[in-house]
Amino acid sequence: MPEMEQYQVPWTAMSDGTAKDYQMLSAQYEDHARASLRQSLLATLARLSGPKLGYQIDREQHSRQSATRALRNGEPAEMVVAALFHDIGDVLAPHNHSAVAADIMAPFVSAETEWVIRHHGLFQGYYYFHHFGGDREERRRYEASPFYERCVWFCAEYDQNCFDPAYDSLAVDDFIPLIDEVLARPSRLGQEWELNPSNPPGEVG
Ligand SMILES: [Fe+2]
Ligand SMILES: [Fe+2]
Repeated sequence: MPEMEQYQVPWTAMSDGTAKDYQMLSAQYEDHARASLRQSLLATLARLSGPKLGYQIDREQHSRQSATRALRNGEPAEMVVAALFHDIGDVLAPHNHSAVAADIMAPFVSAETEWVIRHHGLFQGYYYFHHFGGDREERRRYEASPFYERCVWFCAEYDQNCFDPAYDSLAVDDFIPLIDEVLARPSRLGQEWELNPSNPPGEVG
C-alpha cells in the first residue's frame, strides 16, 4: 500500500497544534499503523524460518502448525491468529517472548486470548521445568484466573504438540483473511494516548 501524505501540519512544535490538527493526525496515523502492523507481523513470522534449534521443524513451521490445529479445532479467528503469532516475540525478546506477543495482539483480541498468549511460556514449563530441577506445576499460581484452563488447553493442543514434521500445516497465505479480519477490529484498548496520555499519537513514549 503506497504511503499517502494526506495532511501536513503547518507548525513545527506540538504546542501550536489545534484540535483539528490532532484529529487529522490521529486518523492518518491509525491507517498507517494498521498497515504497518500487518506487514510487520508477517515479516516477523517469516524471520522464525531457518534454524530448527534442535527440534525437527523451525519456529515458522511450528507457528503454522499451531494455527492450523487451532483452525481445524474450530477455534475463533482471533485464537487462530494468536496461535500463528504466539512466538513472534522470539525475534526481539527471546527471553520475554510471551509478553511481547501478547502486547502486540492485545488491541485486537479478547482479554482471554491476550492472557493465554501472555502466559503461554510459563504454562509450557509444565512440559520441561522438572527436567531442569524446577517445578512443572509453577503455572498453578495462576489457578484462580478465569483463563487458567484455556491457557492449559492452548499449550496442550496448540503448542507443546506442534513440533511434528509430518503434520499437514496450512500456508501463511491461507491465514490472511483471518489476519485481516482480526486486525480490522476496533482496538479493545482504545487509542494509545487514551491509555497513556504521555504518549501523543504516533510518538514513542
Ligand atoms: Fe512460546
Ligand atoms: Fe510455541
